[in-house]
Amino acid sequence: MEKKFFEIEKTTESKARAGVITTDHGQVQTPIFMPVGTVASVKTVHQRELKEDIKAQIILGNTYHLYLRPKMDVMQEAGGLHKFMNWDLPILTDSGGYQVFSLSDTRKITEEGSKFKSHIDGSYHFISPEKSMEIQRQIGGDIFMAFDECTPYPCEYNQAKESMEMTHRWLKRCIKWCDENPEIYGHRQRLFPIVQGSTYSDLRKISAEFISEQNAEGNAIGGLSVGEPEDEMYRITNEVTDILPIEKPRYLMGVGTPWNILESIGLGVDMMDCVMPTRNARNGMLFTWQGVINIKNEKWKNDFSQLDEFGTSFVDREYSKAYVRHLFVSREYLAKQIASIHNLAFYLDLVRVAREHILAGDFYQWKDSVVPVLRHRL
Ligand code: GUN
Repeated sequence: MEKKFFEIEKTTESKARAGVITTDHGQVQTPIFMPVGTVASVKTVHQRELKEDIKAQIILGNTYHLYLRPKMDVMQEAGGLHKFMNWDLPILTDSGGYQVFSLSDTRKITEEGSKFKSHIDGSYHFISPEKSMEIQRQIGGDIFMAFDECTPYPCEYNQAKESMEMTHRWLKRCIKWCDENPEIYGHRQRLFPIVQGSTYSDLRKISAEFISEQNAEGNAIGGLSVGEPEDEMYRITNEVTDILPIEKPRYLMGVGTPWNILESIGLGVDMMDCVMPTRNARNGMLFTWQGVINIKNEKWKNDFSQLDEFGTSFVDREYSKAYVRHLFVSREYLAKQIASIHNLAFYLDLVRVAREHILAGDFYQWKDSVVPVLRHRL
């Protein structure tokens, strides 16, 4: 018998759960963090390191970027993103809506879709829900996202409502297109719809109910981590996970810090992604079990202790803080590589240990004891 797409292994006294997602490119143990590989590359990190050292189980690709470069003729000739980048584990692609919102110089969003100016060469493009689906078929991710509009924070109530309603109409168009256009590479692709509604509880409720009714194989929560206070993000996440079906994986998009990740798992989230571990690594910010380190700081100049004594990746054992600080001060490329490997390995450790505590039945006690330490600035 075919294995179910999502199997829950253990639930806790509250909402956190441990599960397994099964795709045609292998399994993902949830809760999981997904490194972001925007342009068919997790910045500064080899696929081999991602797999063997960081132990990533699934990575992200982006419709917006891959559509603009290398473009879909190359993607299709390669046989899809897995083959193009030589990554044979699961891939999830984001739909482009959010990237148009955050990256394009100018954009015009209408009922039909989103017209935008490329951040690469200034050329004009148009992505509709149907076009986003077509591009994501050509990329060939195991999970792909509905085309949505992500509202900014703060967002006026009426604007949030209209945007959410359009996202719902766009979702219907995405589903219709997918029903009429099957996969092209011989492996299954699962479409996840996205809950929107800004920080308004009534809108989030309407959206979560609408999304749940579509009976997709997994569901996502968007429009968060866009500048709202952490408490608001947790409040909305909690309200939405109360409604989204228990038996489907829940993906919280674009979140977040290590403590955001643990709190979100506590609210019943199974999947997360964020550029933070890689982007902040490139600026010298390291996340550890003892707190946050700015490795460029003078205080590490003569500290020859290992980069992270509780870290599990080879860079944590093989290099000292003083050495990595020196690489940053000297603007060496290796600095960014080491820091990115460290941070991603830490994020993957974080969710793996969280999973162990869910299975052991003491997740919430453990979370409450580690969150203040994770936030600490060393
Ligand atoms: N990434 C982070 N937030 C969002 C969102 O609201 N929508 C999409 N498509 N991607 C995201």
